[in-house]
Amino acid sequence: MRVLVTGASGRLGRKVVPRLRDGGCTVRALSRRPREDSTVEWTVADLATGEGLAAAVDGVAAVLHLASSSARRTHAVDVLGTGRLVAAADRAGVGHLVYVSIVGVDRVPLGYYRHKLAAEQVVAAGPVPWSVLRATQFLEFLEELLRGAGRLGPVIGDRAVLAQPVDSGEVADRLVAMLAAGPSYAVAEFGGPQVLRFDEAVRAWQAARRSHRPLLPVPIPGRLGRALRSGGLTTTVTPTGSRIWADHLADTYGGSGRR
Ligand SMILES: NC(=O)c1ccc[n+]([C@@H]2O[C@H](COP(=O)([O-])OP(=O)(O)OC[C@H]3O[C@@H](n4cnc5c(N)ncnc54)[C@H](OP(=O)(O)O)[C@@H]3O)[C@@H](O)[C@H]2O)c1
Repeated sequence: MRVLVTGASGRLGRKVVPRLRDGGCTVRALSRRPREDSTVEWTVADLATGEGLAAAVDGVAAVLHLASSSARRTHAVDVLGTGRLVAAADRAGVGHLVYVSIVGVDRVPLGYYRHKLAAEQVVAAGPVPWSVLRATQFLEFLEELLRGAGRLGPVIGDRAVLAQPVDSGEVADRLVAMLAAGPSYAVAEFGGPQVLRFDEAVRAWQAARRSHRPLLPVPIPGRLGRALRSGGLTTTVTPTGSRIWADHLADTYGGSGRR
């Protein structure tokens, strides 16, 4: 079966593509720029304009829609672009579209999340058979967030924010299984095995890197802070992934992690 993967060059896409290929799928990978890889059919398209989408979906049985723009173009790319992709997929007779979203899009008041929720609704209201998976933050994304929070010296953040980071490879496994199972017409959730407070995540990260930078606690105000501290980014849904923050740190910086 030929599967189109949008966002194939991203964190999650790089994990999904080899799994699909190893499972016997022919992968067509969408990017805004030309890319070379003899094991994948790269196709150039832009969700923000719709250019290239008709050719991208031509002859594919299913679409894994991972592309997203968390910067200024979220409405154009994630909401309108998802609408363009769904319309093109419908015209091409695509049998299943799997969309990746984020745990908490329905309760954490962030602009990016509002757009992701709207994109979910575009998928669910559209004519193409669908499934949605909401994942929690990827382990490597949490690391990038902490690097950003520490760029001025101390690590700045709200110590009581709760996260449930998940291994992106395990999310990719879940997506491949959802693709094989066929359209569910439902929103599923998938998180990591452990809920961590921000200060616990920072302490473990600093210890792994042998860094002594202090944590500068800055509570996030208002509704956003309350949503983040009360577990808006976490899920009780099982099964969860199996890799935890300590495993990621051990793999990245050495040491034993929990093993
Ligand atoms: N990161 C997390 O922790 C996390 C957690 C839960 C869910 N998610 C969701 O999982 C999905 C993948 O996240 P990620 O972290 O892997 O993303 P990422 O690394 O930021 O990659 C984003 C991808 O979107 C593509 N893209 C951006 N604008 C585009 C446009 N106008 N047209 C076509 N493609 C465009 C990029 O492709 P090119 O640059 O090659 O064009 C890139 O491959 C997203 O939907 C995200 O919301 C992420």
